[in-house]
Amino acid sequence: MADFDLVIRNAQAVTASDIFHCDIGVRDGRVVQLGLGLGAGTHEIDAAGRAVTPGGVDTHCHLDQPQAPPVVSADDFLTGSRSAACGGTTTVIPFAAQHKGQSLREAVDDYHRRANGKSCIDYAFHLIVSDPTPTVLKEELPALIAEGYTSFKIYMTYDDMKLDDRQILEVLDVARSHGAMAMIHAENSDCIAWLTGRLQAAGKTAPRYHAHARPLLVEREATHRAIALSELVDVPILIVHVSGREAVEQIRWGRAHGLQVFAETCPQYLFLTAEDLGIDDSYEGAKCVCSPPPRDKANQQVIWDGLADGLFTVISSDHAPYNFEGEGGKHPAGEEVPFNHIPNGIPGIETRMALLWSEGVLGGRITPQKFVELTATNPAKAYGLHPRKGTIAVGGDADLVIWDERELVLTNGMLHHAVDYTPYEGMRLAAWPGTTIARGQVVWDGTRYLGQAGQGRFLPCGLPTLLPARREMAAGR
Ligand code: URP
Ligand code: ZN
Ligand code: ZN
Repeated sequence: MADFDLVIRNAQAVTASDIFHCDIGVRDGRVVQLGLGLGAGTHEIDAAGRAVTPGGVDTHCHLDQPQAPPVVSADDFLTGSRSAACGGTTTVIPFAAQHKGQSLREAVDDYHRRANGKSCIDYAFHLIVSDPTPTVLKEELPALIAEGYTSFKIYMTYDDMKLDDRQILEVLDVARSHGAMAMIHAENSDCIAWLTGRLQAAGKTAPRYHAHARPLLVEREATHRAIALSELVDVPILIVHVSGREAVEQIRWGRAHGLQVFAETCPQYLFLTAEDLGIDDSYEGAKCVCSPPPRDKANQQVIWDGLADGLFTVISSDHAPYNFEGEGGKHPAGEEVPFNHIPNGIPGIETRMALLWSEGVLGGRITPQKFVELTATNPAKAYGLHPRKGTIAVGGDADLVIWDERELVLTNGMLHHAVDYTPYEGMRLAAWPGTTIARGQVVWDGTRYLGQAGQGRFLPCGLPTLLPARREMAAGR
């Protein structure tokens, strides 16, 4: 009888702190031994000295999230998780969004129904709090945190989602009392509305004006305000999808003043610029409309620097899947809608890991260990899934990626999402996941998707472990 269900031989294992040569022994979906010359496995894979990293933990993605009609999410948990797996991601944390007037519990129950039986990789949920009623603040949120929904997103923009400063303070206070992680979408709503009105009055409605309505200042002001509100409440926050220099400067300022400000960025701020929204009034740029918008080359460099020097805690995809031509998408029935009616968001759940390994690690901008920290270890720690997720360690889930370093040209045809385009069409990459293993099962072998709908499990999250002091506080110590 074999000693292991699976042995990966001759791996160059990479964690957030180390690189070491070993075999990886897997039993019952967990790593049970690391060492050289391990006994036999029922299945064996020869990594042949290639890099093996933890499976990606994508802690910002939107799957089957209900939208205001006519907009629809192109990916559900089946297609979204399949796409994630084929791109080397083995855990996702999408959002159970509360709509105004809805209870948080209803939003969570609805979201479980959407995910149940569909995901091929493990998943947890963040909450989106859009209606912080006294019942939500005093009863629902504390109860849901205790049940494993330990993070929530707060919007400072979007009319149907945004909270005012007083409401943000109330929600942050709940995060403080219960040790939860508050994620903040930092853009100034009134500035965007005012700029949008002026652009519309001038007849400037093409996709490229989306970036004009959301300049760096809009993000800078909201980031500063979010940091100030968190300072007042004395609670850590995580600013999501940071796009450029001015928000980065605010985060550095907060850190320099001893505040616990964590930060997330996304590949679109490394690989796209505002020019991808159009250099003329062409509608093609709608494909790259997301918020905050992509900036310019100089801002891309600021984001790369922040990844390398520790400013950023995590890199997520912010996969927000809308078709360009298809149903509920960005070009509905072939109509060119004004920029402020184009659904915000771009697909990227499958491309996040390869873009960062290829251009970050192989491009010499970040170390392999930093790649693991940003794509897996810190995301797992930020949302209470570490060390089960996000590392290669005995006792952890056998969620692994074996990397193939090979030249390829990225096309939408090779991706597994249900979106009809990728913003990275035609980009040359130097690597792609050769094998993805989720809890010991091969779900992607480099050419074929081998996962099964429903094989992924719901994971209740613990409290963030980036924040040991907060855990003690929540426990009353
Ligand atoms: O444009 C974006 N980022 N869409 C997704 C929703 C969000 O705010 O993250
Ligand atoms: Zn957002
Ligand atoms: Zn998002």
